[in-house]
Amino acid sequence: MDRVGIAVVGCGMMAQGMHLPNLSRHPDFRLLWCCDPDPHALQTAVERFGPERQTSEAAEVVGARECEAVLIAASHSARLPLIELFARAGKHIYVEKPMAESFPELRRVLQVVRETSIRFTVGHNRRAAPAVREAVRVLQKHRDSPISPPWRWDREGRERPTLEGERRTMVLIRINDDYWSWKKWAFQAGALVNEMTHFLDLAGCFIPSHPCWVQVAGERIGNHVITVGYQDGSLAVIFESIFGSFGYPKELVEIYHNGAVIVLDHLCEMRVAGVVDEPFRTTFPFWNDRYPEIAVQGIEGYYRRTLAAQREALEKGDNSILPVQPDKGHYALLTDFARCIRTGEEPLCGADVAAVATALMLRCVESEQSGGQRVEVCPEDFRPV
Ligand SMILES: NC(=O)c1ccc[n+]([C@@H]2O[C@H](COP(=O)([O-])OP(=O)(O)OC[C@H]3O[C@@H](n4cnc5c(N)ncnc54)[C@H](O)[C@@H]3O)[C@@H](O)[C@H]2O)c1
Repeated sequence: MDRVGIAVVGCGMMAQGMHLPNLSRHPDFRLLWCCDPDPHALQTAVERFGPERQTSEAAEVVGARECEAVLIAASHSARLPLIELFARAGKHIYVEKPMAESFPELRRVLQVVRETSIRFTVGHNRRAAPAVREAVRVLQKHRDSPISPPWRWDREGRERPTLEGERRTMVLIRINDDYWSWKKWAFQAGALVNEMTHFLDLAGCFIPSHPCWVQVAGERIGNHVITVGYQDGSLAVIFESIFGSFGYPKELVEIYHNGAVIVLDHLCEMRVAGVVDEPFRTTFPFWNDRYPEIAVQGIEGYYRRTLAAQREALEKGDNSILPVQPDKGHYALLTDFARCIRTGEEPLCGADVAAVATALMLRCVESEQSGGQRVEVCPEDFRPV
């Protein structure tokens, strides 16, 4: 495959911490440009990742013919003008979440993508994470062939009533965050806008039905419980606290469906019960493992690496050394983006898919503003007009 020439537009924390390291070693991409109006951000990105060119002006990237795609990881206020600018120039776009912060903005983005026929991906990366892909596979296998293991206790046998709920899925997502780690701008929109699109999208990966309502208890800034109801009666509950600690894993996902339980423990370990011929425990490699000498993988491996990171932070007097990260799917989503640019297929997190989680997040904000009322979600919420 010819490598895709790409520009990174917005070279702040996310670009330098994740996308630029991934792009600079990715065989499907050629890192052509770094673009940022902030001279410090631009200079550090250029020094660390060596793009072929640099600029403070997005318009300069528009004119570069060899640049086929852009990855936009810019400040939220710059997102829509940059999407319009690059889409109209025919550049394929990978844009960081949230895709929009209002319904007019969301509809505008959907319309521009539709009119220009570019490949468009939103950075809801978790749906591309190896652990999530594997959980989706196991769940689908159980849906297609719901065979109970021979040890399942069937007290009533033939006398047992058949329950409607057997066809539904219950998803529980627990997020442990620490607001001391946030940047100043993150406090404006809060975790409901900045983070929850990830988890609303993730819940949707496991529930093959349309969401029809949301309800939020708690505050927009953080510390909330979101409930999402789906047409088939499935429910997703997302519990999020920003008063937690990075001394403990950030995210736990539990999926319950028709006698099966699938648990994703911080995306580095999956545990499965009630699905025939599946191992109880599967582990997934860490991303950019800082402590490869620690052989233990999975959640126990995560704890050991966390303790090693805490020791190193104390020894060096550098508390920006954080525990090692699981693979959250950023690299795989880039791979999918490149493949779809070449094949013309719809990306894993294209505009229509991403619009669902974005619209849910916007309805969650309405629910929070109304003091926790249940807010309906309709299919028009995810459409361009
Ligand atoms: N998917 C994830 O896991 C994840 C994690 C963190 C952040 N993010 C997202 O990444 C994006 C960036 O977040 P961040 O933490 O890197 O923010 P940041 O503030 O560190 O970086 C943003 C950069 O954009 C630049 N910028 C502003 N206007 C621009 C313009 N017109 N053209 C080019 N660059 C411009 C700023 O100068 C800054 O350097 C946000 O959308 C955020 O929500 C995603």
